[in-house]
Amino acid sequence: MTKQRIVITDGAYVVEGGIPLYQNAVGKSEDELCLEHRRMRQIPTGKGDYLLCRCGRSKTMPFCDYRHMTESPKFEGPETASRASYRERAQVYEGNGLKMYDDGRCAFVRLCHYDNKSVWNMSGTFDGEMKQEQINAAWHCPSGRLVVEDAETGVVYEPEYEPSIIVLEDVGLNCSGPLFVRGGVELVGQDGFVYETQNRYALCRCGKSMNKPFCDAMHHHEEAFDDGAIFHDGCVPSREEWRSGADSAGKLDESFKKNARDV
Ligand code: FES
Repeated sequence: MTKQRIVITDGAYVVEGGIPLYQNAVGKSEDELCLEHRRMRQIPTGKGDYLLCRCGRSKTMPFCDYRHMTESPKFEGPETASRASYRERAQVYEGNGLKMYDDGRCAFVRLCHYDNKSVWNMSGTFDGEMKQEQINAAWHCPSGRLVVEDAETGVVYEPEYEPSIIVLEDVGLNCSGPLFVRGGVELVGQDGFVYETQNRYALCRCGKSMNKPFCDAMHHHEEAFDDGAIFHDGCVPSREEWRSGADSAGKLDESFKKNARDV
């Protein structure tokens, strides 16, 4: 079987190895204390490799339709992100018996907040009360910005994900979000450089990021460019539907990944 990986080209992302593709909306939880994912659907990709747009011009989102080269000027998407390792780039916050790493790579999906507290506020409580919420909030971060580990043992808390790609829709802000890549999918640059493998990362698909190939939240300046229907009232699934189809990933359970090499 072909290795599962994403290869960056001067246009699209080439997705190899049959990585499943989903579409999630991001919206308020039932108790309205935080935002959460709502699974919309699995997107058929056919057999074999497929191309995902990274220029933001495609009319067949999330797939590439070659407008990156047929529209003038030709898309240029140089990879400007640091290639230093996550641990080299990250700051460390301590509290709640946790060490929380933060590399500042933000997609502004806002899942790192709970009940008006951010993970940074939670980290500062030092009383353990917010420990679970802090872990959950860090896990929900699609950009992989936040990673938490046990301060004493060094065990890294990470959710187990099947290798998959999620097209994010920020319904609350009426914009289409990044590609949320999960499960340690290898990412290869245009020059063949293999990025550090991370359990979670967010790829730019609006073409505007200043930190390509990763999302830096510039999509918030754009109108939604995916299927507009999902942004209309009544077309977003009810909360019941959301919960019944909700992605279980991110819930705190015993499936901690203990191998720090994967984060
Ligand atoms: S990358 Fe090909 S149309 Fe956007």
